[in-house]
Amino acid sequence: MTKAIGSKIILDESDNKLAEDFRKCVEGLLESENVRELDNYSQHFNTSRLQHSINVSYYSYLICKYFKFDYKSAARAGLLHDLYLYNRHIQKLDQSHTIYHPKEALKNAKKIAELNEIEEDAILKHMWPLCRGIPKYKETIVVTFADKYCATAEFITQILKSGQKKNKSRTA
Ligand SMILES: [Fe+2]
Ligand SMILES: [Fe+2]
Repeated sequence: MTKAIGSKIILDESDNKLAEDFRKCVEGLLESENVRELDNYSQHFNTSRLQHSINVSYYSYLICKYFKFDYKSAARAGLLHDLYLYNRHIQKLDQSHTIYHPKEALKNAKKIAELNEIEEDAILKHMWPLCRGIPKYKETIVVTFADKYCATAEFITQILKSGQKKNKSRTA
């Protein structure tokens, strides 16, 4: 585990209280083979799906902790919300990826962990309002918001990085 996008906190650091608390929330999930495999898929340009999932998990955790919501469930759902193991640009699906992948993520998440109702709701409805079903819990709304925030931050970071590379090659 490393840093979440835009954060200075190294999540692997054992002497950082916040990092330690976050790690406790997602304990057992990060070591799962399926979750580790997310590192082989890219999401939003060059961000790995694992990094994106850590980003969503960490910000969902922070927001829920601040508002005294169930931050553990939010962190776990954030980490598992995109647990699908296919490339959306290659895989042929019967449904749109937007509708299909939350269901696939929930199915895969249930194989590696026992989920509570909040976690199930947050994984299944993280594409809200683009998916069917209204979020049942405030933690679900936080995860959907964190997902969109992180996706935007990942896009912008990649655009800025590619702009810097182009500038460097022009001046070289
Ligand atoms: Fe997603
Ligand atoms: Fe996502």
